[in-house]
Amino acid sequence: MPAKKILHYINSLPFPLTIRHYSVFGAATAFLKDGELYSAESWDALRMNHPHFSIAESREEWLKAAESKIKKDGQDGAMPLRAEEISRILNECGISSLFSVGVGGAGLEYQIKKANPDLQMTCSDFSPNSVDTLKKVFTECDSIRLFDMKNKDWSPALQGVSADKQLVLMNHVDIEFTNNELREMFQNMHDSGIRNILIVCNRLTARGLLSRFVDRLIRRLKGEHFVFAGYLRTKKTFPPLWGSLYQTTEVETPLISGFLLKSKN
Ligand SMILES: C[S@@+](CC[C@H](N)C(=O)[O-])C[C@H]1O[C@@H](n2cnc3c(N)ncnc32)[C@H](O)[C@@H]1O
Repeated sequence: MPAKKILHYINSLPFPLTIRHYSVFGAATAFLKDGELYSAESWDALRMNHPHFSIAESREEWLKAAESKIKKDGQDGAMPLRAEEISRILNECGISSLFSVGVGGAGLEYQIKKANPDLQMTCSDFSPNSVDTLKKVFTECDSIRLFDMKNKDWSPALQGVSADKQLVLMNHVDIEFTNNELREMFQNMHDSGIRNILIVCNRLTARGLLSRFVDRLIRRLKGEHFVFAGYLRTKKTFPPLWGSLYQTTEVETPLISGFLLKSKN
């Protein structure tokens, strides 16, 4: 095996590993429920009190982030290209209806809708503040609704559409859940008839683990306060979470990493 491939393999941490993830939210920390980012109340508070995580209430301001003219959480200059890569996957799978969960500011979804105006799109989040704000600004979206991914019933994702042509998009939301919660979620999706899922996720690598450790050390020395904000996992941790329910295709492009799942039965 060439040296570059060996290094890549080692960097991918080729074994299951899940670690707790901590972030610094500065003055907004005081508003988080239980001092953690792990509830709808905390996400609402973060969106309302931290400029990097806020969702603009005016269409003009929101478009600046959605068009990558200003940088916000999950919304950067590469977003239109990421949307292109996702659009290609949707087209290859013959998808005509998208149900995106935990959309936050929905910049990626805006770019996907812009590239595919005929795609039937529902955006959802469990944070009432995000949903109310998006309803005002994301006027192209066919439907914007409150939806808690811990719901047992995922049939709202399938309303009025054949399951074969429908896909659930999970863009950087895996971080919000424990492995057991994710296992239960995939079972619930499968039981509700969801056939296609695209997971776009951060994968924990050796380099990422090291830079996280150094960053945390420096910030601790500066006296910054860390807040629990979910879980990070290595690539190998993911597939067992949906076990025998879904067939897995790994998605590894220059801009997105993740998994495309297709129901086995
Ligand atoms: C890390 S942010 C990702 C936002 C967006 N997808 C992106 O990549 O920029 C996680 C989002 O998931 C939402 N979320 C967390 N737990 C959720 C749940 N149980 N059901 C639905 N949404 C949830 C939060 O409100 C937040 O908007």
